[in-house]
Amino acid sequence: MAGQRIVVTGVAGFIGSHIARSLLDDGHEVVGIDHCLGHPQEITERNLRLNEASDRFTLIRGDLAELPLEPHFDGADTVFHIAARPGVRPSWGAEFTSYARSNVVATHLLMEAAARTAVRRVVVSSSSSVYGGAPNGPVTEEDLPAPLSPYGVTKLAAEQLALAHARRARSRPTVVALRYFTVYGPRQRRDMLISKLIESALTGKAVTILGDGKQRRDFTFIADAVQANLMAMTADVEAEALNIGTGVTTSVLDVADLVGTVVGRPVVLEFGRGQAGDVRDTHADVSRAKDVIGYRPTIDLRTGLTTQLEWTLQNEVVPTSE
Ligand code: NAD
Ligand code: UGA
Repeated sequence: MAGQRIVVTGVAGFIGSHIARSLLDDGHEVVGIDHCLGHPQEITERNLRLNEASDRFTLIRGDLAELPLEPHFDGADTVFHIAARPGVRPSWGAEFTSYARSNVVATHLLMEAAARTAVRRVVVSSSSSVYGGAPNGPVTEEDLPAPLSPYGVTKLAAEQLALAHARRARSRPTVVALRYFTVYGPRQRRDMLISKLIESALTGKAVTILGDGKQRRDFTFIADAVQANLMAMTADVEAEALNIGTGVTTSVLDVADLVGTVVGRPVVLEFGRGQAGDVRDTHADVSRAKDVIGYRPTIDLRTGLTTQLEWTLQNEVVPTSE
């Protein structure tokens, strides 16, 4: 139903900015919450520009672990909780405090606030990193989570916290946790592989492959992740965690080759050491998401890379002339 008030946390980020845009396009009123510290200022401003032109968009700038949230949740039907400290490899050592605060503490406070208001549904961003790999083929939601990184532990804690709140007797809101598998597309974070590969092919700047490059990812295009969120808003669900991937995996070396083909110039690679916490392979079985919310991935890797390249050429990197 159009015209609802909807909250999107992490609205200044990659995935949150896209979800907000889709909701505005569908006629909803969007309250975006972000502390605007997840990216350099020019990236934050660029992401916010996507939605700020709409008079149905309001930005609340603040930290989810500190803000009074109830006033912003009042009258909201759905909260898309997308904000988190992302990124697997930097989550060791002293950085863990910030992961725990933004991913775990903030999620608990958000669920408490949602339960005190009339929010009907919370859709939470979770992650393939809860699994710790896919050594025996595609993972299902029945597989035991066993994260290999502190980040993965915080994402598992966050989704399980949200689900525990939903299962509390006579409690609203209901919760759908979406376990995304390595999302790419326009506005992808610059620390992520595909952004770096496209930049490399355009500028000649080298990308360091972490390990032998034979690790595989189930790369998921942003439009499919957004569609999953919109479906999760209305599906008849009490408390569910669902895989949002494609079922197709590609090695880091093969995606580098494919980016070179799509750009028409090779990517420049160097090789470095594999990183602690980086899982070997991710591979989603998406049958449950199909059954429960009607999710179907539609964009193959070559098409998605072409779209990300076109967007990059228009918005980010000026290619070097030859
Ligand atoms: P992003 O960094 O682009 O966006 C996250 C946003 O959240 C940022 O704008 C940041 O400023 C904001 N934020 C972080 N902590 C906050 C806090 N305490 N208070 C207020 N705002 C805060 O990241 P993304 O790639 O868009 O990821 C979005 C979500 O999806 C995250 O929950 C991430 O764990 C999850 N996820 C992402 C991927 C992926 O491939 N990008 C895959 C799996 C899961
Ligand atoms: C991504 C997101 O960054 C996480 O926030 C998210 O939770 C996770 O997806 C997920 O699916 O759950 P990751 O798969 O590590 O994490 O995504 P990339 O940073 O794009 O890395 C993909 C692969 O490329 C990894 O094996 C990584 O080691 C490799 N890589 C990445 C490099 O070899 N070099 C780089 O410079 C960057």
